[in-house]
Amino acid sequence: MVDNTQVGSPILHLRGITKSFGGIHVLKGIDLAVERGSIQGLIGPNGSGKSTLFDIITGYQKPDDGVVEFVGEEINGQLPHVISRAGLIRTFQLTKVFPNLTVAENLLVFASGVGDESKKDAENRAVELLDFVHLIGLHDREASTLSYGQLKLLEFAQVLMHRPQMLLLDEPFAGVNPGLIDELVDHIREMRKRGLTILLVEHNLPIVAQLCDRVAVVSGGQIAMNDVPEVVVNDPDVKEVFLGDA
Ligand SMILES: Nc1ncnc2c1ncn2[C@@H]1O[C@H](COP(=O)(O)OP(=O)(O)O)[C@@H](O)[C@H]1O
Ligand SMILES: [Mg+2]
Repeated sequence: MVDNTQVGSPILHLRGITKSFGGIHVLKGIDLAVERGSIQGLIGPNGSGKSTLFDIITGYQKPDDGVVEFVGEEINGQLPHVISRAGLIRTFQLTKVFPNLTVAENLLVFASGVGDESKKDAENRAVELLDFVHLIGLHDREASTLSYGQLKLLEFAQVLMHRPQMLLLDEPFAGVNPGLIDELVDHIREMRKRGLTILLVEHNLPIVAQLCDRVAVVSGGQIAMNDVPEVVVNDPDVKEVFLGDA
């Protein structure tokens, strides 16, 4: 096994995370340290436990054992809204987009949860975020009229409305029109430039390779390797798993 815990001052630190469902050991001791300000990839075959790990990190499931540390504090056992208020946010594959609200309203519904920000400040931030994701021209359209790709952009703006320190993205490119992929890639890079740390689960290896600073591989319930993308995507075992799993 590789020791993944030796990164200087990680923002997210997982130690010995285990989880079983009805006697099936899905996670068998996940150790991973994510460096602040980085884009950390997480890959692995379908059913290897990546989404389960996201659930555990964000408080939607409890690990059987192990510790989740965020900004130096143990957060395992805390409720999802407490964790999101601490600045660790995940995307939900569009389930938080309200179809009958306008694009702008879809952002403002999340403003109330953010400290004691005034309504005016929240509106200004919503405008700035819609500008960032290039949806400003559609601010008064009902969300139900947006394309799937535009909804993804709206979802990005929604999570940024929470002013996160760290984002967990679970297959954000799945189902996205190839013409929009470059734009999403640019937005994720820009988020990192703004100081966000990103943990990205993604099946598309070329996207992982171009975006991530490091890529961890989940295999057999553990982190089998965590290295720069060039090393990981050229690893014979990784190639075999991904070619056999398309
Ligand atoms: N709530 C649950 N109850 C029972 N089994 C689950 C539950 N969540 C996930 N699993 C199982 O755990 C394994 C890992 O699933 P998942 O975390 O979704 O993998 P991945 O995201 O890597 O594809 C799968 O075998 C899945 O069926
Ligand atoms: Mg999954």
